[in-house]
Amino acid sequence: MGIGCPWSSQKGLRAYWEVSGLDENALEFPTRVYEEGKVKFLAPALKEGWEKAVSPSGMPVFFNPHSKLSRDMAVLMVGAYFDRKGIRVCEPLAGCGVRGIRIAVETGIVSKLVLNDINRFAYSLMKKNVEAAGLAEITEVYNLDANALLATHSTGKLRFDYVDVDPAGSPAPFLENAIRSCQSGGLLGVTATDLAPLCGTNPLSCIRKYDAVPYASPYSKETAARILLGFVARTAARIGMSISPILTFYRRHYIRTFVRLNYGKTLAKESLKNVGWMYECKSCGSVQWSSYVEPIKLCEVCSSVPRVFGPLWLGELASKDLVLKALGMAYEADMKEAYSLLRKISEEIQTIPFYYRVDEIGKRLKSRAPKPASIVDELRSIGFNASLTHFDGQGFKTDAPREVVERVFSELTSSKT
Ligand SMILES: C[S@@+](CC[C@H](N)C(=O)[O-])C[C@H]1O[C@@H](n2cnc3c(N)ncnc32)[C@H](O)[C@@H]1O
Repeated sequence: MGIGCPWSSQKGLRAYWEVSGLDENALEFPTRVYEEGKVKFLAPALKEGWEKAVSPSGMPVFFNPHSKLSRDMAVLMVGAYFDRKGIRVCEPLAGCGVRGIRIAVETGIVSKLVLNDINRFAYSLMKKNVEAAGLAEITEVYNLDANALLATHSTGKLRFDYVDVDPAGSPAPFLENAIRSCQSGGLLGVTATDLAPLCGTNPLSCIRKYDAVPYASPYSKETAARILLGFVARTAARIGMSISPILTFYRRHYIRTFVRLNYGKTLAKESLKNVGWMYECKSCGSVQWSSYVEPIKLCEVCSSVPRVFGPLWLGELASKDLVLKALGMAYEADMKEAYSLLRKISEEIQTIPFYYRVDEIGKRLKSRAPKPASIVDELRSIGFNASLTHFDGQGFKTDAPREVVERVFSELTSSKT
């Protein structure tokens, strides 16, 4: 930064932010100016060592710098999904408001922004951040319970084009109202940070929140995302709407999904065809799946009685076209982490709801494990569809039958000994 630049010294920094409405001393608690994407905003000053925690705690207003990727993805998906201006956006659990503000500033297509948080300190902070971002004219800021806010926007022109449900914990309590407040053809973004229930560490909590039996296994990251999506699909179907996933990913402490919503009971029933059950045979280890309405099956390989999980989403987790569009945007915006993740997702097989792990196959075959990328190359070379998966660095997806996977695995390990 050059000499004479207003923020080249601490004193200059304060003077500059005061002029632009971002006064670190303006609130009842210590704040700091942060910069993320194209936005500068106030959020609570983080305590020393915050980086080590998954999510900083004990602050007057929630702000987690680790969630930048989640916010980058929201900016990218709104930008990629909507090809028109005049978008109405709602962030009902907004914290300091940075997500909604970034979406408005960085996409440039938002005509109405509604930010809300139940925490009164968050409300004061959001108002400051909205003014400083120059969005006061198009923004309404509320200090309500999220469900109350969403319920009052669930009819006609009051509905939104994009609703972003980003709680600390489970989104389940907010989903029905969030879906009701979304236009047909609109986009819903959902975060779940309650991975213990979704991944099966806490099965009864998963049943309580998502009405689904989780799959506690080395593969639970993908099934967690699928349980969340299955729940979104069933919640939407109940009120006559269908979902189509645009992007779903797992990162650090959370799962995030973006789904298109459409009205129509027939469409809703169609989308329920993507919801079903997953089975794991404890005798031979094979994994199968079936639709919601099919009777539960015995293991196709050894006829044992399998363990059953779900209901969960068995359809595609992303739209390749929109992921590729967002990938281009991430490159342009120099969002490196988003770019790298979108690239992996763009190469993933979308039609197989399950993956293998090389270490698990190695354990069963009492062999060392080759790299997942070598197996993928080998399976492709003999005509099968195969890809890596962002859910798991040890994982790979394929349509090859299990015996073929094991044969290729053995060939690869024996050829190198
Ligand atoms: C994870 S934080 C939001 C982070 C924000 N979306 C971001 O990207 O920085 C969740 C927020 O939800 C708020 N909250 C919790 N329960 C709420 C409720 N019932 N209604 C409205 N806000 C609520 C909390 O005060 C907190 O600020």
